Amino acid sequence: MACHVNSDPFPRKRCALLKTSQDLAETGHRERSCQIVPNRVIFFRDANRQPPLFAIDFPVLRGKFHPVNQHVFPAVARVAIRPHACRFARLAPLLAAITTLLRASAQEVAAAPATSTNTGPVKVAIDAGPSTNLFSPIFFGLMTEEINYSYEGGLYAELVNNRTFKDRVDPLHFWKLVQEPGGNNALSVVTDQPLNDALTNSLKLDAVTASQSSPVGVANTGFWGIPVLPKTKYKASFYARAAAGFSGPITVSLVSTNSPGTVFATGKISKIGTDWKKYAVTLSSGNVAASKDNQLVLSTTSPGTVYFSLVSLFPPTYHDRPNGFRRDIMQLLADMHPDFLRFPGGNYIEGKTFATRFNWKPTVGDISKRPGHFDDSWGYWSTDGMGLLEFLEWCEDLKMQPVLAVYSGYSMTQGSVLGELTNCVQDALDEIEYVTGDKNTKWGAQRAKDGHPKPFALHYVEIGNEDNLGPERGSNYNQRFTAFHDAIKAKYPNLKLISTATSRFAPLTRTPDVFDDHFYSSSGQMWSDTTHYDNFPRTGPKIFVGEWATREGAPTPNMNAALGDAAWLIGLERNSDEVIMESYAPLFVNVSNPIQRGGRGAAAGNTNIPNSMQWATDLIGYDALRSYGSPAYYVQAMYAQNHGDTILPVKLENVPTRTWTPPAGRNGRSGGPPRELKNVFVGVTRDRKTKTIYVNVVNTAGRPQDVQVEINDVAGIKSTGQAVVLSADSPDATNTIKDPRKIVPVTSKISGLGTTFTRAFPPYSVTVLILKGT
Ligand code: AHR
Repeated sequence: MACHVNSDPFPRKRCALLKTSQDLAETGHRERSCQIVPNRVIFFRDANRQPPLFAIDFPVLRGKFHPVNQHVFPAVARVAIRPHACRFARLAPLLAAITTLLRASAQEVAAAPATSTNTGPVKVAIDAGPSTNLFSPIFFGLMTEEINYSYEGGLYAELVNNRTFKDRVDPLHFWKLVQEPGGNNALSVVTDQPLNDALTNSLKLDAVTASQSSPVGVANTGFWGIPVLPKTKYKASFYARAAAGFSGPITVSLVSTNSPGTVFATGKISKIGTDWKKYAVTLSSGNVAASKDNQLVLSTTSPGTVYFSLVSLFPPTYHDRPNGFRRDIMQLLADMHPDFLRFPGGNYIEGKTFATRFNWKPTVGDISKRPGHFDDSWGYWSTDGMGLLEFLEWCEDLKMQPVLAVYSGYSMTQGSVLGELTNCVQDALDEIEYVTGDKNTKWGAQRAKDGHPKPFALHYVEIGNEDNLGPERGSNYNQRFTAFHDAIKAKYPNLKLISTATSRFAPLTRTPDVFDDHFYSSSGQMWSDTTHYDNFPRTGPKIFVGEWATREGAPTPNMNAALGDAAWLIGLERNSDEVIMESYAPLFVNVSNPIQRGGRGAAAGNTNIPNSMQWATDLIGYDALRSYGSPAYYVQAMYAQNHGDTILPVKLENVPTRTWTPPAGRNGRSGGPPRELKNVFVGVTRDRKTKTIYVNVVNTAGRPQDVQVEINDVAGIKSTGQAVVLSADSPDATNTIKDPRKIVPVTSKISGLGTTFTRAFPPYSVTVLILKGT
């Protein structure tokens, strides 16, 4: 058991001062046996690894500790608090109060209610009088990074995998030689024929036996396939130079992998010169059936040697953007009505080392000049085709505001790079200028040159990612945050800064505008934690729940996870005066070959080919051809599409409950005492202009639930309205790439509404009732 800090008020070896989930893990206890949130300090008492005794948490705001919440375990009576051990004088007076709280809570524990089997309707009383509790206008958003082939092999519409031959070169992945059986032609990656300083690897084809009757070529197998849709135009391009004695032609074709004689589209470049040059051709498919088990083939019928660089193939993109995005996935995102995009990470921004961080400068400009980098956070190459400007254009396309995360001088394995801090701060200032500066600024001019003269609006900048984790646990985040804060606020006073950590060893000396909290939990944990922010102080920085998910189901969440999300999201919405933004994570997964290492669930993929999933339980799944939303996706979309601009108070009575025992942790350690979980959760918002009232109801139980609704202090409610219902036959039910619409919301007209009405809500369901006020 670790006692990490000097301010520890309890004897060493018997207690811990916890500020991060990692701290808690070190005590040997499971997360959520008490909840760790970044800007709180939790005193956690444990008698030599016996079952937990107690935990008390204090929000840390402007250096002040306020006890607001306590989780008391049965053995609390044995606890002795020793105020003299506190080395922070200001904590000492609090300890008496803690003791009192503990005693009171010990009595509460003794009187804990048994599992309720409440029958009859749940009673819901909505106070529809004037409400000043405004719903955050930027509440729903997206969080993304390069994980699970999110961009390459996902949103970024490029269809050629390993287009610059820098990923998995030995043996070369995703490329193969095309020749008649027994041919002695050769394919290799060489470095002696670089296209330029950025693209230093080239693909060399020695087409020794090529002839009219026996073409020789190279084939790219794409991201677990290349889609061919009927009557579609694909833009193929590549850089090439011919060795002496070779001049082409090169035929470019989309060919079935399983039946190489089946050519869906083809084009020809008749002559290849001896200097590097870009060649482009449009490939048009006919009236063919949609398929994905295809490859792109570049072949020749003339013997000789030719070098290729940056081989690319794009389908039609969303809004027809060059170097743009997949249409189907963008439509799924548009349906989520996102207000913001947090990018580019996540771990992806940090990298494991300084060298592998997301270094924004080489990600802008002509894609043939982008060297790319190894995404060592998630284990594969990024060409950086999805660069800073592409992220911003993505925001523009979906009318989201960017929440720009800047590298904070900290990488996951290497730790902090304080020697680079000044440069990192300057890079962040340059990046902000690239986003917001006009054409007369250095980086604004660069953006204009890159094709986007108009500056982007930017309001939020996040300093790093989860900087309280990793080897240093935020020990010098204060120093780094201060440096970024002072430089950014001096030049851009209106920008709001998001902290990704409270320093574990010292409070931040600059107050952030917002803290970024992350939660990855089970459904039981989510249901037991829906009041997480209810008593959170309203006097400090706002909260951005920048990553969260109920992690049940792989590769995408199942219905139970959606029920966990739906209930917890009601808690966030209810507190959206404080929790101003939320974004589920991770957003994307390529489900072509999802291999789940460790953890729950069976390995689904083929271990001989690269894993398409690095993190199980992701909101949206896709392969090369199709995409789908998980049940949890539909929760996000339903809530984002149907909400008002004010929160209405709501009271619930007669809610059935069930007992939940938190699962044991590592080495069979107790997950904590059983808890009572409510089966029904309700949240209500109203649009002041249209007088529409939105009632979100989550029924987590496997039986229908009657709910009696009473709306007070309202002129009237029309008798007809709408219900949007997401439900499933079982909590394990889910959507898959083969059955993508098994669980989708169904919208129907409903009647019998009024200021009082009773409705039955189906088992395992999430419902939004849309009621019209008069
Ligand atoms: O969402 C997956 C990872 O979880 C993110 O990259 C990181 O921020 C968090 O630990």
